[in-house]
Amino acid sequence: MATANKSHWENIYTTKSPNQVSWTQDKPNEALTFLEQSNISKSDNIIDIGGGDSLLVDHLLEMGYTNITVLDISEAAINRAKKRLDHKAENVTWITSDILEFKPDTTYQFWYDRAVFHFLTDKADIAQYKQLVNTAADKNLVIGTFSKKGPLKCSGLEISQYSESSLSELFSEQFDLKHSKTLDHKTPFDTIQNFTFCHMVKNN
Ligand SMILES: C[S@@+](CC[C@H](N)C(=O)[O-])C[C@H]1O[C@@H](n2cnc3c(N)ncnc32)[C@H](O)[C@@H]1O
Repeated sequence: MATANKSHWENIYTTKSPNQVSWTQDKPNEALTFLEQSNISKSDNIIDIGGGDSLLVDHLLEMGYTNITVLDISEAAINRAKKRLDHKAENVTWITSDILEFKPDTTYQFWYDRAVFHFLTDKADIAQYKQLVNTAADKNLVIGTFSKKGPLKCSGLEISQYSESSLSELFSEQFDLKHSKTLDHKTPFDTIQNFTFCHMVKNN
């Protein structure tokens, strides 16, 4: 299953350009807004989970953040982002891993996941992700998924939809909800995808 998932994403990133996939954003506006509200310092650890070839890392470097990690299951995605950033890529920690196999050796003060957690549809996988953030995200946890009004699939794969309350409740043992919203993402092919975003903060 994990191998099939990896092959799916390697295939996507070797055959499709950014304007051929639904999640592409010209500017990751919501990530930048949540970051602004998160009160972290430029040297705090930031991780973009399933960052793919998102431009978030470019903006973070531009803004002067110095401890940025991008994790993705697809090596092709990471290579694409590295190529785009050229020498600036050396200032980023790149991790090719399935999120469920990630064994962090540090903690992150800003954990950002846009449209990755929602691929977990199995209860045990969701519990495992929760366990991971409980130990590795020690301040801000921002997760964006398709909402209850959003698509049922992403990149042709089944997803779990969340409301603002179902998403925040799932992480509520260790994280308090700071802010949540639903928003429409306009895809490069002019369709609309409704997302739920929750910005949660560690409660201990
Ligand atoms: C829908 S795309 C979103 C990309 C990016 N977060 C964004 O907002 O532009 C999902 C991304 O998650 C990655 N991904 C999917 N399943 C993953 C997993 N189990 N572990 C790590 N990355 C995963 C994919 O390779 C892809 O880059």
